[in-house]
Amino acid sequence: MATFSLGLGLGLGLGLLLALLTRATAGPLHAQCSVKWTFGVSCANVYEELVTQIKKWKTAENCAHGGEKCLYTLKSANVHYIVAEHTSPMHKYVDNITFRLVSSLGRDSCYVSGFSVSEKWYAVFDYGTNYCNLHNLIEGSGLDKVPNYSELTNNFQCTQYSSANCTIY
Ligand SMILES: *[C@@H]1O[C@H](CO)[C@@H](O)[C@H](O)[C@H]1NC(C)=O
Ligand SMILES: *[C@@H]1O[C@H](CO)[C@@H](O)[C@H](O)[C@H]1NC(C)=O
Ligand SMILES: *[C@@H]1O[C@H](CO)[C@@H](O)[C@H](O)[C@H]1NC(C)=O
Repeated sequence: MATFSLGLGLGLGLGLLLALLTRATAGPLHAQCSVKWTFGVSCANVYEELVTQIKKWKTAENCAHGGEKCLYTLKSANVHYIVAEHTSPMHKYVDNITFRLVSSLGRDSCYVSGFSVSEKWYAVFDYGTNYCNLHNLIEGSGLDKVPNYSELTNNFQCTQYSSANCTIY
């Protein structure tokens, strides 16, 4: 009997551990996304493009036919740090967005770290929304077409990154 209970206890403990591990490998516990980009243009240029794009997508107009490329709000901005919010047109969920811009030594490249996090702490799955919040601005502004563009992230850094469809989210 004692052996049985011990076995059961171990089994349960192991099960819990496995569940936690599985959860951890599935990505961040809170819906969020962290991305690193390189652009072969100056940070002044990247700053200008991002801020212009955020302002361009301020109203709901661009989402009239679906998607979430709208309802961005610029909170504060300087050439090193941009703070914005994105509201999902359907559910009005608010996500916080930041971009940190760092110039290369020669100032002809810009390294950018982007972060998006869902306000709702219980929003564990986001269908890649936090990734799309960031990537849509890069693509919309055409920054993904500049020389030496690269984007780095993965499912650990971004909730549901590999299944994100930014046409919808
Ligand atoms: C792109 O990267 C290459 C290799 O690092 C470098 O030689 C070149 O100057 C870069 N071009 C631009 C426009 O940044
Ligand atoms: C989002 O930003 C606001 C301030 O603008 C802050 O109060 C809030 O805690 C942030 N939420 C998350 C989830 O980081
Ligand atoms: C993303 O969604 C759009 C619109 O529903 C669809 O046309 C497209 O095929 C989807 N892309 C992928 C990669 O699933």
